[in-house]
Amino acid sequence: MGAVVITGGTDGIGRALATVYLRRGHDVLVVGRSTRKGQEFITAATDLGAGDRAHYVTADLSRIGENQRLIQAVTTAFPVVDVLVLGARYHRSTRTVTSDGFETNFALFYLSRFLLSHGLVDPLNRAENPVILNFGGAGQTGPVRWDDLQLEHRYHGVDAMGHSARLNDLLGVSFTTIHEDSPIRYVLNHPGVVVTSFAGEYDAVTAAQVAHLKQVGKTVADSVAQILPYLDPPGTGRLTAVLEGVRVPLEPSIFDHGAAARLHEVTERLLVKPRDQLEFIGRTAHPA
Ligand SMILES: NC(=O)c1ccc[n+]([C@@H]2O[C@H](COP(=O)([O-])OP(=O)(O)OC[C@H]3O[C@@H](n4cnc5c(N)ncnc54)[C@H](OP(=O)(O)O)[C@@H]3O)[C@@H](O)[C@H]2O)c1
Repeated sequence: MGAVVITGGTDGIGRALATVYLRRGHDVLVVGRSTRKGQEFITAATDLGAGDRAHYVTADLSRIGENQRLIQAVTTAFPVVDVLVLGARYHRSTRTVTSDGFETNFALFYLSRFLLSHGLVDPLNRAENPVILNFGGAGQTGPVRWDDLQLEHRYHGVDAMGHSARLNDLLGVSFTTIHEDSPIRYVLNHPGVVVTSFAGEYDAVTAAQVAHLKQVGKTVADSVAQILPYLDPPGTGRLTAVLEGVRVPLEPSIFDHGAAARLHEVTERLLVKPRDQLEFIGRTAHPA
């Protein structure tokens, strides 16, 4: 049995999925920034009798180098990865930029998922039924802002998350195209409104909206029940988009191969800056 790697696995939906896979007997590695939450995960796993299979890595995944460190740690510790869940998120009502120079939400919600999807292909390829779950837009979001991918103009925290979710839909398309001979299934999931921590820094208006969402959202347990059927084998093909437990048609105008290829190219160019650290992207994106 291979390992399960979950970014955002210290809280919310990711944490609940981590418990499911621990119960099933997997090694589970959760990733987050809070050491306290990581330790709580280990303690809870120990109470389940699975402490020896529970692992925690502290990483700020809005940083390029932290994603690389995680990829290195995972590939060293786990030759086989069965499931990769990409669930780290953090809302910011005010635009900020990482020390790598990327808009923070774009870096965490999109670039990290790009890096980890491509960077963990090798251990995933060794699994019998490998799957990546990326919480994308599942076709529910607006257009790509090609002229302003990092939202320098007209930034709004909610829009920023929606925009990154749209980019992740295209990541799913390009990933399955680039790794066309891989057995890895890519599942894009929009869970709907789920009562979680909604971690973030909110302005007053958005904070009020979030407070309302926390009253009307579904439980994490209900959300997990809608997600799991699409992760478990046999699955529904290489690329699947799911909205609140219901499969969404891969509408060509949204899951657009041309736009996906364009985004992949733009992303590679953006990441070329620290080229010496990012050689593996070129390797996985253009297999010999
Ligand atoms: N909840 C909803 O209503 C909803 C709706 C649509 C989509 N989704 C998607 O579902 C997924 C899970 O959401 P959730 O609501 O369950 O999340 P959540 O409860 O808010 O938890 C967020 C997770 O992300 C981690 N995280 C935040 N910033 C990070 C960083 N810089 N580096 C590494 N980890 C970081 C947090 O860990 P630390 O606290 O340890 O840093 C935490 O584990 C997300 O992709 C979200 O966009 C959720």
